[in-house]
Amino acid sequence: MKKVLVTTGGGDCPGLNAVIRAIVKRAAQTNDWEVYGSIEAFNGALRTPKEIIRLNDQKVAGIHAKGGTILKTTNKGGPFNWPVKQEDGSWTTEDRSDEMIDYLKSEGFEVVINIGGDGSQKISHQLQEKGLNVIGVPKTIDNDLSSTDYTFGFQTAVDIATDAVDKLVTTASSHHRLMILEVMGRGAGWIALHAAIAGGAEVCLIPEIPYDVNKVLERLNKRYKDGRGFAIIVIAEGAKPREGSVVTRESDEVGYRNQRLGGVAYQLSDQLKSAGFEHDIREMVLGHLQRGGKPEAFDRILATQFGVKAMELAINGEYGKMVSFIDQEIVAVPLSEAAKGNNLVDPNSFLVQTAKGVGISFGD
Ligand code: F6P
Repeated sequence: MKKVLVTTGGGDCPGLNAVIRAIVKRAAQTNDWEVYGSIEAFNGALRTPKEIIRLNDQKVAGIHAKGGTILKTTNKGGPFNWPVKQEDGSWTTEDRSDEMIDYLKSEGFEVVINIGGDGSQKISHQLQEKGLNVIGVPKTIDNDLSSTDYTFGFQTAVDIATDAVDKLVTTASSHHRLMILEVMGRGAGWIALHAAIAGGAEVCLIPEIPYDVNKVLERLNKRYKDGRGFAIIVIAEGAKPREGSVVTRESDEVGYRNQRLGGVAYQLSDQLKSAGFEHDIREMVLGHLQRGGKPEAFDRILATQFGVKAMELAINGEYGKMVSFIDQEIVAVPLSEAAKGNNLVDPNSFLVQTAKGVGISFGD
């Protein structure tokens, strides 16, 4: 029997369970692979006692339709940054990668399938370089990994954000209000851009296109002048005003600090009021609702393909690769390439042109 260890690391993402289930089901067809899962990414393989569980058909039954991950996940710890408390109470980290690799090899693990975002895939690559067989599976709701056209979880997040826009429209129109919806995306505006087009927003602000608040104001004033009486802005949490384009008041800072995740919706609200916007504004931070609940069908299918492909790479001994979705095909790319660079929205792309073509302003 050969043993494969599955890990899920970084922020959770709808579709993780579908990947795990697909790995287990594909492995079961071979009769010579056993699947195990480490709890909370690699931390389960580093803790004493170890937290590594056997995964079988029974354990994964029906989980493809559930959000989160049955293996739990974390952004903390891991083989290269294990937290250690010092005598004076402060924390430092230590590299326990050699010890973990020795342990996994001594337990007979042939390969690890590491499901995670760019940070996790950097760890995959480092471990592979140190002699542990690793296969990567990309994951993020932000869809900002350069080595795959799509990541699972993204479509689900877009659907949730679009549903939020649809709901905000009815309350905004009833009150003649401007609604500002903040969505996830620290470095990339994919969720905001897709939700703005799908939901029919008037303004979309993303990290890739710094905005001028006066241009945003212009678009909103036109909208109210046209007699529509309400408006919707979708703003990505990483969106930033163009330098020198906003008047900052003390309340801007207070509004920003009050929000743990992002808070740019409140900042923008203050900026618009300072710039002279006269109508009622309400802000909403969608936050982790975008990562919760069941994955949409597209994400379940993509995640299942990733799981089957990852297990097939394991069966064929094709280690050191990450599964990927490129030009409608499920392929494998070297781990060395996997963690390189981010996939950002191209301001000159047809998608941005499309948004502009239906009257969405980016404040540029
Ligand atoms: O990278 C995925 C993501 O959901 C980002 O969009 C967001 O900024 C971040 O994770 C939130 O992280 P956390 O769950 O640790 O607050």
